[in-house]
Amino acid sequence: MLIGTANPFLGLDQIITESAPLGPHTWYKIGGPARYYIQPRNLEELQQATRRCVDHDIPVYVLGLGANLLVSDDGVDGAVFRLDADHWQEVTYTGSVVTANAGTDMAKLVLATSRRGLAGFECLAGIPGTIGGGVRMNAGGKFGDIGSVVTDVTTMDLEGNLYQRTKDDLVFDYRSSNISAKFILSATLNLEEDDPEIVTRRMKEIWMYKRNSQPLSVKSAGCIFKNPRGLSAGALIDQAGLKGLQVGGAEISTIHANFIAAHPGCRADDVLKLINIIKEKVWEKHQTHLETEVQIWR
Ligand code: EPU
Repeated sequence: MLIGTANPFLGLDQIITESAPLGPHTWYKIGGPARYYIQPRNLEELQQATRRCVDHDIPVYVLGLGANLLVSDDGVDGAVFRLDADHWQEVTYTGSVVTANAGTDMAKLVLATSRRGLAGFECLAGIPGTIGGGVRMNAGGKFGDIGSVVTDVTTMDLEGNLYQRTKDDLVFDYRSSNISAKFILSATLNLEEDDPEIVTRRMKEIWMYKRNSQPLSVKSAGCIFKNPRGLSAGALIDQAGLKGLQVGGAEISTIHANFIAAHPGCRADDVLKLINIIKEKVWEKHQTHLETEVQIWR
């Protein structure tokens, strides 16, 4: 518990955990602690907590489902916000228009929209993450991306000011968006009415493609690198002969070379070393620079 006048979060103790291990909140299950782990239950608590961070110069991190994240072994000396309370997972449907709060699990929304016969979001099948994280990095794959159905986004800065961004001033590119505000609070998706059976079948096909081509039974953070324009990072790593290469508990997947599996005992440092080796070797072999897609907190 935080005590005394030095406590930057006085009065907010119910939503704060100090020195909270972050590993359990990531798909990799590795990495050190957050100095503060904050779970606001509503907008007011979020605004109060972020203003305290500003007042006390505490760096702010926003955690989604931790699916595309590698936390260093030392953890982060800052405040990690997690929007996982009920409020942040609310979804409203108005015909084919869906508004989902930031903490909504994309996988659950893919299922729900497909079953309702709402098409356009099933391309996200098998891509883990929250709506907030997904919109921020324009989550997607070869079947489409979230940016193509997003029409409105509500964001918040660290002072707690809210902003409404509409389609006209939103730009989504390959694994990126032009949203710079620290927090995405909700997003509206414009989907199309279709036959639930057809949408569900498409969702299953997309999911099967992923299951057949990616190592889903090992701990990983999905694809480690972005695909260089017109190329496949996985194929480049594969052609460099790196499949199966290990550093400590980290191993380049033999199924899909753009995945680094974390075996028992793996440290974040093992994964980071392997990332650097891959970059060097791919540069030597193909003169192509690989950029990480996975977020690295250190
Ligand atoms: N390939 C190889 N060797 C490998 C891996 C791939 O030769 O080890 C070849 C495949 O045979 C294929 C090509 O490379 O011809 C592309 O591979 P794949 O179809 O698996 O697609 P990808 O570009 O590697 C992208 C996304 C994935 C997403 C899939 C399917 C990126 C970096 N990756 O993978 O997203 O699941 O399409 O939609 O954009 C992620 O973002 O974490 C992720 C896994």
